[in-house]
Amino acid sequence: MTLQIKSLEQYQEAYKNSVENPEGFWAEQAETFTWFEKWHTVLHHDFVTPDVRWFEGGKLNITVNCLDRHIATKGDQTAIIWEANEAFEPSKRYTYKQLLAEVNKCANTLKAQGVKKGDRICFYMPMIPEVAIAMLACARIGAIHSVVFAGFSANALADRIKDAECKMVICSDYNRRGPKNIPVKDVVDEAISMGCASVEKVLVYKTTGGKVNWNSNIDIWWHETVDTMSDQCEPEVMDAEDMLFILYTSGSTGKPKGVVHTCGGYMVYTCYSFKNVFQYQDGDIYWCTADVGWITGHSYILYGPLLAGATTMMFEGVPGHPDAGRFWHVCEKHRVNQFYTAPTAIRALMAAGWHEPEKYDLSYLKVIGSVGEPINEEAWHWYDEKVGRGHAPIVDTWWQTETGGILITPLPGITDTKPCFASYPLPGVQPVLLDANGVELEGNNVEGLLCVKFPWPSILRTTYGDHERCRTNYFAAFKNYYFTGDGAKRDEDGRYRIIGRVDDVINVSGHRIGTAEVEDAIDQHSGVVESAVVGYPHDIKGQGIYAYVKPHHEVVDAEHFRREILAVVTKHIGPIAKPDKIQIVTQLPKTRSGKIMRRILRKIAEGQTDQLGDTSTLLNPECVEELKAGALE
Ligand code: WT7
Repeated sequence: MTLQIKSLEQYQEAYKNSVENPEGFWAEQAETFTWFEKWHTVLHHDFVTPDVRWFEGGKLNITVNCLDRHIATKGDQTAIIWEANEAFEPSKRYTYKQLLAEVNKCANTLKAQGVKKGDRICFYMPMIPEVAIAMLACARIGAIHSVVFAGFSANALADRIKDAECKMVICSDYNRRGPKNIPVKDVVDEAISMGCASVEKVLVYKTTGGKVNWNSNIDIWWHETVDTMSDQCEPEVMDAEDMLFILYTSGSTGKPKGVVHTCGGYMVYTCYSFKNVFQYQDGDIYWCTADVGWITGHSYILYGPLLAGATTMMFEGVPGHPDAGRFWHVCEKHRVNQFYTAPTAIRALMAAGWHEPEKYDLSYLKVIGSVGEPINEEAWHWYDEKVGRGHAPIVDTWWQTETGGILITPLPGITDTKPCFASYPLPGVQPVLLDANGVELEGNNVEGLLCVKFPWPSILRTTYGDHERCRTNYFAAFKNYYFTGDGAKRDEDGRYRIIGRVDDVINVSGHRIGTAEVEDAIDQHSGVVESAVVGYPHDIKGQGIYAYVKPHHEVVDAEHFRREILAVVTKHIGPIAKPDKIQIVTQLPKTRSGKIMRRILRKIAEGQTDQLGDTSTLLNPECVEELKAGALE
């Protein structure tokens, strides 16, 4: 069994051990899993190339560890509880035995369609059990899943399909989200029509049975194939360092990059972190509200919980549907013990009904978690008082798509909690704060750039098809460190507080959006010369998107122009990247070398027009007055 820390002394001891003897520490964890063949080398690493390999020589299949190995003891225990979009619809349950059978049937379908080890499969799916089944089916046969959040546009989906040269797309006919019923198969068709030549088949799960266009050369109904397959499928033998999945995420430049995670290290770390951060006990009901289109869904709805033999809940809907009590209703209905959500949801629910949680029995909760962005003090206290109620501590978990699992977090009931602090590193994690010159800041009460100086098992291995990008993005800024892109403080007791991104990435409702991507989309509008996008504080979303747009000609109907800008962003990325504010300008502030001075634009967007600093070095200092005068509240 994976080691579960139970006391502060054990945490301190495990931490010390993990730093002094990382290989021994992680080998001991890895021993608790089922391997077809044991590794010969626990760790090889070099942060310059970068080249990180864990458990090399080890042979395994992660689905054997998620499913088969639990069958003898937990075959009839619920693995997945699914809660539908509509509160009146019955929930569904899959036991470990049933889940294994469904995964095998789906795996056999993939094989029958010619999918082989190493092939990439793109997902564009709602939150239904079949998304979990199909992801595990890929892992079963060694295919690599690349899940795309189903809120992205056809353009964004096409970019991701092309980048990974996916052989198949798995989607649904429609996606029910709150009151909406979104025709996602149409989006997939549109994406494929944009030159996705690699796609041979589209596997479609019927959710609503609404009308869809059908191309019988490539489209296959799930119910016509998967349901007819054998429920036995031998797991593919994978090397520890074979790819498990690709997940696209935004950076400060260019298009989203495909973060690559591999089988062995990801398995060991997600299971270890899940069991410790949530202090999961047999029989508990665990619920993470994320979408499987993000890393949180991969690591802490699917892999971590199933590896730990937990009961994990999936929710199809959205927080406010049918009302602001839905989350609490679901917690009460299923007697949820561990609840994990995002600050943006907490703030939205807090605004919609301060006293709403009081109407529900939340006494089963033992741990409540937060992830995705800094949680502000007011939201932290509300969550603590109204939801945690003195018996469920908050775990403010800091991590990233690239880290694969939680790196910094309190351990509930073991380490203390402090509002807005992600607190302490998990065993195996060695965070440091650097100054701008790359010098490690010693001691406490310091603030700097958050880096990690030693690999943990689920660190990203590369960015798909472009290793150089991985190197320059994460390993080139400071030699021998992994650079997170975040700024952080360390308080007097060594707790970490994450301040936020220090690069051109903004965090909107816990979703990472690259300003460059939004600018590229806006610039596609034929009436736009150039644009600049920055973040600003937003009450619900954490950060909002503020766009400065320079048109070719004077804009006559500003509202119409703004609507067109929103439409072009929705088309190229998706509704989540729509600017909240669009300021039309005649000039953008430029340095003498022609670079946009974002610092000034950020200050104006934040409403701090009195803190612009020195603007005299600008190429066009006269634009500042216009920018200030036109600033949007
Ligand atoms: C960025 C990573 C990890 C799953 C969801 C987001 C921010 C994440 C916290 C937290 C403050 C946080 C960071 C990080 N972030 N968790 N607890 N406190 N900030 O994954 O899309 O890869 O984004 O989210 O800025 O770099 P992601």
